[in-house]
Order: sequence, then structure tokens, then C-alpha cells
Amino acid sequence: MADDEEYWYQIIDGFLSEEEVQLILGLWPANGWKRARHRNSAKIYNTRPGDWSESFSDLYFSAASRIEEIIKRKNANAVFDKELHGAGIHEHGKGGFLNIHVDFNYIKEGLGIRSFNALLYLTKPEVGGSLELWYGDSTKPKTKMEVVTPEPGRLVLFEATESSWHGLPERIGGSVPRRSMAFYFYDPMVSVPAKERHSTKYSK
Ligand SMILES: [Fe+2]
Repeated sequence: MADDEEYWYQIIDGFLSEEEVQLILGLWPANGWKRARHRNSAKIYNTRPGDWSESFSDLYFSAASRIEEIIKRKNANAVFDKELHGAGIHEHGKGGFLNIHVDFNYIKEGLGIRSFNALLYLTKPEVGGSLELWYGDSTKPKTKMEVVTPEPGRLVLFEATESSWHGLPERIGGSVPRRSMAFYFYDPMVSVPAKERHSTKYSK
């Protein structure tokens, strides 16, 4: 992927039915949450399936398998990170946000390079927290490509590259939390040289 070029993304409405969304929200875990609050993000997140009910865990991992199949139909290599580094479930309450960033690109030997992200929305558009997709170069975002409004059951899939900048920079205004599920995929056929590994890069 060259700099300053759009990257692949896809929005799939109705990935989850209304009934599935209601089921997931009804089983939303009470335990296992951690807080992130720093200059680039305010949210709580949960990457601990051991603290979820079995039913909730089944719904999450079956969604991951379905997404993996969608990516593979693109003839792309995609292995779901079952250890959920940075993935799992996310909740942005009042004031929640996430500045535009490029994701960390490496976790461990053998898993390869981060290649695709999938975000599955559960809450209504009026809650806020639209996802912005920007492209640019490896140092900064330059052009806004898409704004994805969260809709219950809507999935957005996009390539994770050195220039796929994204985030939800507008803070949540109301008291209803924005809830989503996150799934990250890796390409084991591409190794990341030590000098090219990096953590999350924020635009400011
Ligand atoms: Fe990200």
C-alpha cells in the first residue's frame, strides 16, 4: 500500500440481527473491565472472556469466525487474534473518544503483521462516536475518506496498514454509553522486522 492512497474497507449492515443485538446487550458483562484514560483516549474495555458468560463468549467468537470467513473470501490471509490484544468489547461513556491513530502492527512471533480490523456496533446513531477513516502517510493522516455512524448490527471492516488512520475523535455527549465489539486479524505470511514494529501511533 503506497502512501496517500485509499485503503480497502467495507460496511456491512445487518451483520447482526436486531434479536442478536438485544441478546448481546442483555448479556453485556459486568466484570473484567479496565479503564483507559489518557490524552488520546477515554473508554473502558474488556478483553477477558473468562469473565464473560458462556453465551456471550459464544456470540463474540462466532462473530469473529464469520468475519474471518468474509476476509478470506477476499483472498486475504487473516487469522483472528484469539488472545484479544486490544480487541474484545469496548464502551465509551460520556466524554469518551479515541484520537485518530494507526494501530500497533505486531504482537508476537508467528502471528505476523496486523492486517484487518473489524468493529461491530451495538448502539444507536444518536449515542454518537462515529468512526472516521482517514488516509495519509505513515506520519500523519491527510484526507478523510469515510465517516461510519454506529448502527446496531453494523459491521465495518478495514485494512490495517501503515497509513490507515482511524478513530472516533468526537466525544460522546450523552449519558448512554457507546458499545461495540472489536476483532483484529493478522497475516502470518508476513513477518514484521524488529525495526518496523511499533505501538499505536496517534496523530496528535
Ligand atoms: Fe485502531
